[in-house]
Amino acid sequence: MSARPERPVAIVTGATNGIGAAVAERLTADGHTVVGLDIEPGPGIVACDVAAIEGHDALVASIEAEHGPVAVLVNVAGVAMPQPLRDLSPATYRRQIAVLLDGPVFLARAAGIRMAERGWGRIVNITSVHASVSERNSLAYDAAKGGLEAATRTLAIELGPSGVLVNSVAPGFVRTRMSIVDGVDELAGSWFQDRYRDGGLLPLQRACEPSEVASAVSHLVSADNTYITGARIVVDGGLTVTF
Ligand SMILES: NC(=O)c1ccc[n+]([C@@H]2O[C@H](COP(=O)([O-])OP(=O)(O)OC[C@H]3O[C@@H](n4cnc5c(N)ncnc54)[C@H](O)[C@@H]3O)[C@@H](O)[C@H]2O)c1
Repeated sequence: MSARPERPVAIVTGATNGIGAAVAERLTADGHTVVGLDIEPGPGIVACDVAAIEGHDALVASIEAEHGPVAVLVNVAGVAMPQPLRDLSPATYRRQIAVLLDGPVFLARAAGIRMAERGWGRIVNITSVHASVSERNSLAYDAAKGGLEAATRTLAIELGPSGVLVNSVAPGFVRTRMSIVDGVDELAGSWFQDRYRDGGLLPLQRACEPSEVASAVSHLVSADNTYITGARIVVDGGLTVTF
């Protein structure tokens, strides 16, 4: 097994906003050279639609040509398009599966095979509590997140013998723009405050900050993580241990 590179190159998807921006900031502070990918422009961001899976092998090759070997991949990019079952269209279903499942899998394949050839790598997929518990209007999102956790396990099995550790981080309520649904911030309304914050369903009684998700990712991709692979780290303030 090889050693971790001195200043590892880390690809972070969804790095323009929210959790991805926090992960990029944290990994930079930890000493990585971060290459941020996003469909939305931002400072230093490489334009990429993660759903365009046919281009991922060439994309990782071009990042390596410019920055050196990729040692870390964090799949964060995501969309949520809530729709009741009756309104669920093939287009919104396919788009969520493409962004939340197909994209991360093929980026992990492109980067993971290269990491395996060099004998060291860390991959983290940001999933959600929705991978294990579900909500109405959320069929495609829930199916994609559950699928990504299954894929995380298989990637861990296939890449583990070559020194590549693969895990998922499953957040609960995180304070990002994704918590604004149809123009309404769900964390500011009575649904969250009465039921979760004050109603006993959320033991830590507050939403998570993006930096708190980044802190879990920071450990999983570090040289300090030598034995966690195929795992699901839940960062939900206790949400899913209540009923
Ligand atoms: N916010 C939460 O409460 C929460 C909870 C659990 C899981 N998550 C997951 O965390 C991840 C990040 O979400 P967030 O809350 O930071 O949302 P966000 O909207 O703030 O950030 C998502 C980022 O992904 C980018 N993106 C969207 N589609 C893309 C595509 N096709 N290609 C490349 N980039 C794309 C967006 O432009 C944006 O910068 C998502 O996978 C989401 O499902 C969020």
